[in-house]
Amino acid sequence: MTGEPGRGARTSYLAANWKMHKTVAEAAEFIDGLLPRIAATRHDVVVCPPFTALSEVVERSRGSAVRVAAQNMHEAESGAFTGEVSASMLVALDVEAVVLGHSERRRHFGETDEALARKVPAAVAAGLEPILCVGESEEARDAGQTEAVLEAQLQADLAEVEPTDLARVVIAYEPIWAIGTGRTATPEQAEEVAAFIRDVVRQRGAAADDVRILYGGSVKPANAAELLGRPEIDGALVGGASLDPADFAAIVEAAA
Ligand code: PGA
Repeated sequence: MTGEPGRGARTSYLAANWKMHKTVAEAAEFIDGLLPRIAATRHDVVVCPPFTALSEVVERSRGSAVRVAAQNMHEAESGAFTGEVSASMLVALDVEAVVLGHSERRRHFGETDEALARKVPAAVAAGLEPILCVGESEEARDAGQTEAVLEAQLQADLAEVEPTDLARVVIAYEPIWAIGTGRTATPEQAEEVAAFIRDVVRQRGAAADDVRILYGGSVKPANAAELLGRPEIDGALVGGASLDPADFAAIVEAAA
C-alpha cells in the first residue's frame, strides 16, 4: 500500500456495519472471536453495533485495534427528539465514529441531505469521525447519472464542514444496487468512483489525499483483496459478511 502514487499515508479502514443485528451477548461473542484474529493488524478496524451493544463492544475492545462506531446520531446536543441519540452521548461511551447517511437510513427513515449537512459537522465538532455514505441507485447508474448524484450528495452533506476538517471525514461509496444483493461493483467501477469522489473533495480545498474513501456493497472474503488492492480504495464498509468474526477478519487481512 505504501509507495502507491497519491496513496500517501492513508491507513486502510475496515468497518463492520452490523445494521439491526446482534444482542449484547452476541456482540460480546463476536468481539471475543474477532480480537485474536486481528491481533497483529495495523489497519483501522471499526465495529458499528446497534446502540444497545455499543457499551459492551467498547469495553470488550479496550486495548485492541478495534474502535467503535454508532450507526446514526442526531445533530442536536439534546432536546425533545424521542428515540434519538446525540454525539455527546456517544462520546461519553468512548464511541469514536458514526455512520451517517447510509442508504437504508435515507430510504427507510427519510434521512435527507439537509439533515446530513447538520449531522456531519456536528459529529466532527464532538470529536466523532463521520463515516459518510454516498451512492447511486441502479436507475441513476443506468441513466449515466452516477457522478451527478454523488457530487450532489457530497456537496450537500459536506457543505458545512470546514476544509481543514474534511480529512477527518471517512467517505463510503456504496452503490445502492450492490448493498445486500450479492452484486458487487467491479474493482474498476469502484475505483473510478472513488477517484471521482476524491476530486470532488479536492474542489472543496481539502487535503483530499488524506481522506479515506471506502467501498461498500457485498464485500466478502472472496472479493475483498481485489477491491482493496486498488490504490484509490482505502477500505471497506461491510454489512452481511461482517456478522461473522472469521469472515470479517479475513476481509481485514485482505487489506494487508
Ligand atoms: P452488504 O452491506 O455488505 O451487506 O452489502 C453493506 C452496507 O450496507 O454497508
